[in-house]
Amino acid sequence: MSARVIDGKAVAEGLRATLAARVQALPFRPGLRVVRVGEDPASGVYVRNKDRAAAAAGFDSATIHLPAETSQDALLAQVAALNADPAVDGILVQLPLPPQIDAQSVIAAIDPAKDVDGFHPINAGRLANGQPGLVPCTPKGVMYLLRDAGVTLAGARALVLGRSTIVGKPMAQLLLAADCTVTIAHSRTRDLPAECRRAEILVAAVGRPEMVRGDWIAPGAAVIDVGINRLADGRLVGDVAFAEAAAVAGCITPVPGGVGPMTIACLLENTLDAALARRA
Ligand code: GUN
Repeated sequence: MSARVIDGKAVAEGLRATLAARVQALPFRPGLRVVRVGEDPASGVYVRNKDRAAAAAGFDSATIHLPAETSQDALLAQVAALNADPAVDGILVQLPLPPQIDAQSVIAAIDPAKDVDGFHPINAGRLANGQPGLVPCTPKGVMYLLRDAGVTLAGARALVLGRSTIVGKPMAQLLLAADCTVTIAHSRTRDLPAECRRAEILVAAVGRPEMVRGDWIAPGAAVIDVGINRLADGRLVGDVAFAEAAAVAGCITPVPGGVGPMTIACLLENTLDAALARRA
């Protein structure tokens, strides 16, 4: 292996410690409410991890778990109650939602000032316009990792693999704001390996286990793997074939222990930012 492995767990621990110290110094506890609907097992793990990390950093955190058959109106009423609650600074509705619920309508119902996921159209628009706002946690975490690893951003050719509203699109916006030359590639992109090989920074966020092979990577590239895929044998792997890629890349994030811990740390940062802005 030649690549330096980026320790997302350590960077996230540092950020969480800084946030905990800032929370401790406040005369109030920033409030986070995570709403989970139904029994998606992966969501159960994510929600528990978010709740635990928030509580450990001194936030007033609680999970609201609603049954799988919850109606859209009932979920909207829950969101309205959290919008109106002065003790609540951050609201996160865990995705995916059951099929009877339109996720876009629910996200649009969240007070943009409490939208710690950064998914509300107002916050997405602010990001696109280069205005301050709440930024989606995973892409924000990726930017921290790139900066921590000392990767030069200005002028760099960055390729974002994936065009989701949760990761791909906001990731591209953040890289562009950092003066990268950004390409967004996706399932319909022609000659994906060739596009990837041009990238000095490659962010993979497609949810396909080990799709990005070692010979897709430019020598010395920074490779950030957002994928978390559970294989049939129980192993957790990213979107990048790690061993192959690590033989070529300059630096690379592992799965687990790369981007995942940063997502949670950035959620806490967004909640603290939302609290300070709301209560100013
Ligand atoms: N599901 C997978 N990732 C996320 C995320 O970042 N936020 C929410 N709300 N749901 C998710």
